[in-house]
Amino acid sequence: MPDETTAVATPPHLQLVNVWKRFGEAPKQTVAVRNVDLSIEPGAFVTLIGPSGCGKSTLFSMISGLLPPDSDGSLLLNGKVQQDGALLGKIAFMPQRDLLFPWRTVLDNATLALEVEGMPRRRARAKAEALFPEFGLGGFEQHYPHQLSGGMRQRVALMRTFLFERDLILLDEPFGALDALTRSMMQRWLLDIWAKHRRTVLFITHDIDEAIFLGDKVVVMTARPGTIKCEEAITLPRPRDLGVVTTPEFMAVKKKLLAVVEEESLKTFAAASP
Ligand SMILES: Nc1ncnc2c1ncn2[C@@H]1O[C@H](COP(=O)(O)OP(=O)(O)OP(=O)(O)O)[C@@H](O)[C@H]1O
Ligand SMILES: [Mg+2]
Repeated sequence: MPDETTAVATPPHLQLVNVWKRFGEAPKQTVAVRNVDLSIEPGAFVTLIGPSGCGKSTLFSMISGLLPPDSDGSLLLNGKVQQDGALLGKIAFMPQRDLLFPWRTVLDNATLALEVEGMPRRRARAKAEALFPEFGLGGFEQHYPHQLSGGMRQRVALMRTFLFERDLILLDEPFGALDALTRSMMQRWLLDIWAKHRRTVLFITHDIDEAIFLGDKVVVMTARPGTIKCEEAITLPRPRDLGVVTTPEFMAVKKKLLAVVEEESLKTFAAASP
């Protein structure tokens, strides 16, 4: 029997309560995110899907502390309310755009967050160098970002996020630019790392298969202004391998989620029509 006292005493790792984000002033205001309530348990792998422009990246900007939420709601980390700016530096965040510095080598881009934290350059470099082969980037340490493909740049950004060791990681479409094979390799790599270190992961994707394959829970957002449409617990056994995508359980969840996402995506297009 689970001990209820313990369960109650452990707060969610991350909690969003009535979170809103509006850009600009009425009448030209864009409500990007509305009334988002979300709880992420410690060590969970949660995937987030929703139509383009529904507010997913905006939500991540707020969780990472880069963008203050509107005053309606609150963000809690380990049960503690986080005031504006308090979340900065507490969370590892890989933004949707890779934000690599063109004047720095790949190695120096990878070590950036560690250096900002004050780690001596030599130690930061040694730490980063050890990861290059694992990310399929061995031999590219001294290249510059413009000398890499889109998928390679994405892997550098992912590596940088992992080097910034935080127990909550936000990944905004980290595998979007990868070919199917590399993507599948990186998915399995990510699951291995997650199983080993049990960090909490929040992962945005447009790929429903990927959301189900990786997640303990898939959170679906509505069309903008984005709020939580539904949450689907994924009970497929772990460790998961590629064969899982052909199981009836996988197919059933996929069918259900496809219907919901399609409904919301159609709303986005209807809203955009003249
Ligand atoms: N800094 C900003 N100023 C004004 N509007 C913004 C700003 N950032 C985002 N928006 C608007 O907020 C809405 C949500 O954008 P966001 O980037 O969060 O969507 P998304 O769900 O991540 O989309 P995608 O799947 O295409 O990446 C959009 O309408 C966008 O135009
Ligand atoms: Mg986005």
